[in-house]
Amino acid sequence: MGHSKADWSGDLPPYKTKMTEPIHAAGLGVADRLERLQRASYNVFNLASNDVAVDLLTDSGTGAMSQEQWSAMFRGDESYAGASSFARMENAFQDLTGMRFVLPAHQGRAAERSLFEGLRHVGVLDSGSIIASNAFFDTTLGWASRFARCENLYCDAFDQGHGVPAAFKGDLGSDRLQRLVAENPGRVKLVLLTVTNNSAGGQPVSLQNILEVSAFCRKNGVLVFLDACRFAENAYFIKTCESGQSERPIRDIVHDMFSHVDGATFSAKKDARTNIGGALLFSSSQERLYRACRPSIIRHEGLYTYGGMAGRDMEAIAQGLQETTEFPYLEHRVGQVAYLHDRLARLDVPVLRPPGGHAVYVDARAYLPAIPEHEYRSDTLSLLLYALGGVRSVAIGNLMYAEKDEAGRILTPAKNDFVRLALPRNVYSVEHLSYVARVFQQINRVKPLLAQGVCVSGDFRNDHFDHFDCSMKPVDPDAFERAVLSL
Ligand SMILES: Cc1ncc(COP(=O)(O)O)c(C=O)c1O
Repeated sequence: MGHSKADWSGDLPPYKTKMTEPIHAAGLGVADRLERLQRASYNVFNLASNDVAVDLLTDSGTGAMSQEQWSAMFRGDESYAGASSFARMENAFQDLTGMRFVLPAHQGRAAERSLFEGLRHVGVLDSGSIIASNAFFDTTLGWASRFARCENLYCDAFDQGHGVPAAFKGDLGSDRLQRLVAENPGRVKLVLLTVTNNSAGGQPVSLQNILEVSAFCRKNGVLVFLDACRFAENAYFIKTCESGQSERPIRDIVHDMFSHVDGATFSAKKDARTNIGGALLFSSSQERLYRACRPSIIRHEGLYTYGGMAGRDMEAIAQGLQETTEFPYLEHRVGQVAYLHDRLARLDVPVLRPPGGHAVYVDARAYLPAIPEHEYRSDTLSLLLYALGGVRSVAIGNLMYAEKDEAGRILTPAKNDFVRLALPRNVYSVEHLSYVARVFQQINRVKPLLAQGVCVSGDFRNDHFDHFDCSMKPVDPDAFERAVLSL
């Protein structure tokens, strides 16, 4: 049965809460949190979740599952080989995307590694190869760069500035792709289109862009894969913002998105609304590549009918793939992001416009201009959010993407220096989001007192994964503490 605006106001969450989880950190004060930060070597990944009040570190694997997902888990077939739970998950992927072959993996990055290993095995990737993307996410870049040169090809709309709202700023710059292919004949082997584009503000990719990129790649013998973690949120934007798409059901749009590509890497921890899981998908024309990736899955993940997951996880994914394309769910989900975005914009916090699908992105360069570029502004802001209100966020900027030396000093700054506030699916209410906005009000008062940021302290591998565990410290710890305790 369809629904109209009259049935669904968009203001009413399409779920109610059946089980609660306590927020232990509600009792901590600023001084307690400063002490926790010190113990965590000023890296929010090192904090205990019990010390966090509102956790917006990631939307990956942090969502609340539905009662149907929990019920499906009881049916989990835990057989090593040929589990019926795999068959159900495989069918769900095939039905939703039209992809023919499905390999399971325990999460997205494992699927990515197997894809790159398979591509090398069939001779598509070699040391001179290039992989292009509308923007690689951190772990994807970490893996892909071990196999090929990686190129981010943003679109012009994204480059026009974070304050300029345009509907599909996640698009791949197709003119830039044409140039890259022309300048490197025969070397661009794969385009990985990230939907939605996490490193570029969670911005969506238009159907027109998917079509354009795939037509060009077909003509030039380049494979196209989706990094499809947030395919459903992307389809929601296509339906609501792309011309001629508004009458189409979300599932129809999803099918269309996948029909133009050769395959997909997938982290189920996002739009399949599960806490773990992943997959590699291949179109019917990519059977050889599918077979080449299978040994890598067996080697690293387990047999090709479980790939590092329990049968019950695959059941939850199969069910989640159904529910995630429901329009009221998506409208509420994207609406929550827009709500927080609006609250912050009203406080003059420079947020990337328009709001994306899963997170609000704060431009730390514009928000903390007094702090020098090489003192990791986005990490400083992330620490302020935790110290002042127990809000955990993630810096997507210099620490993740800048070119750095072996001591973690910035050589060439990253294109963007964002703090991402990612909303877990169906977890937080408007009250939690209002609380986050109030913490920003406090940061507005404290930031004039801060002229210095943070630096890397201790070991640094310089390997694209440092931000997960490296130690940081305020450049002037006393000044940082004084500013935070000044309220
Ligand atoms: C766009 C994108 N690709 C790939 C991944 C990796 O997925 P996973 O965390 O399941 O390994 C993520 C995770 O956040 C992501 O956002």
